[in-house]
Amino acid sequence: MVSPTMALLDRLGLQHPIVQAGMGGGTSGAELAGAVSAAGGLGTVGIMVDPQEMHDQIVRARTLAPGRPMAVNLLMPFVSKSHVQACVDAGADCVVLFCGFDAGLVEHLHAAGLLVLQQVGTRAQAARALHDGADGLIAQGIEAGGHLLGVEPALEFLPKALDVAGDRPVLLAGGIAEAEDVRRALDAGAAAAVAGTRFLLTEECAAHPAYKQRVLGATDTIETLLFSVAWHQRHRVVPNAATRRWCRGSRLGPGPVRALNRIAAPLLRRLPPMLSASALSMQRRSLPFYGPASILRGMDERLVEITPLYAGETAGRIGSIVPAAQAVHELAGA
Ligand SMILES: Cc1cc2nc3c(=O)[nH]c(=O)nc-3n(C[C@H](O)[C@H](O)[C@H](O)COP(=O)(O)O)c2cc1C
Repeated sequence: MVSPTMALLDRLGLQHPIVQAGMGGGTSGAELAGAVSAAGGLGTVGIMVDPQEMHDQIVRARTLAPGRPMAVNLLMPFVSKSHVQACVDAGADCVVLFCGFDAGLVEHLHAAGLLVLQQVGTRAQAARALHDGADGLIAQGIEAGGHLLGVEPALEFLPKALDVAGDRPVLLAGGIAEAEDVRRALDAGAAAAVAGTRFLLTEECAAHPAYKQRVLGATDTIETLLFSVAWHQRHRVVPNAATRRWCRGSRLGPGPVRALNRIAAPLLRRLPPMLSASALSMQRRSLPFYGPASILRGMDERLVEITPLYAGETAGRIGSIVPAAQAVHELAGA
């Protein structure tokens, strides 16, 4: 019988069972995704505010990794028809859905020939994604960086996801920083390992250097709801001035602000463009209203104190910023 890993590698044409997580708002653009795919893993372009820009990034990522597979991440709360069209037109091979369900979208992507994976954090979400037709799951653990669906450690959730998935592949996300982590995930039945924080800390990642420095070797991460304007979803970050000021009472952030964000999120995300840099210019240290956009290369370094420094618990185990190809090879134990 073909192992789940071999089946996935064959289906996508991967050399290594290593997937770079899509990181939105420009953090994982063409340069990172292209370098990962060129090195034999699966690179993922993150969602961007402007579908045309996302399209161009996918096309460029493909030119950086000719003949290699390329994935795109779609954050369901922010997805428009134009984003979906951009994935199809730019020739993505695989789409990873996160934070929302849409059976019609899965059908549409299948009809266009794309493989559809869905990241999930609970057994119920896994069942729903499979019911909607997803070709495979990414089982996210609570130790993961960025937005969280996971509610328990990845290796504890994995067997439950595998149980629901039947013969469809399950990839594991959360806690992947070294070859040993990948080996453990594969031994536990995962078809591949998905890493975000490890790839955040690469030369090609477009995150601001000051952000990367804060994450490098960070001894603490917190699960919060502080950066929830327009997207009310738990997220794991490295602490900064904003969390130190506003998460003193509760790590999740001030209760009334959370309540307001929860109610206002569906309305606010219809306004342009909540994931982008322009939203950042409205944020103040003295006001606990912060959106999900993180600080990119070239932006004002001071934003590092009031933007989400998404990172997983592996941050404390990652000691250097390396080229993405090196990260792929090290994770693969190659
Ligand atoms: C900086 C950063 C940004 C992220 N952005 C996204 C995103 O836009 N979409 C998504 O599906 N997952 C996102 N994630 C979560 C990843 O898909 C994945 O679950 C996580 O990175 C795994 O944990 P790790 O960071 O410990 O490797 C992000 C993670 C990080 C670290």
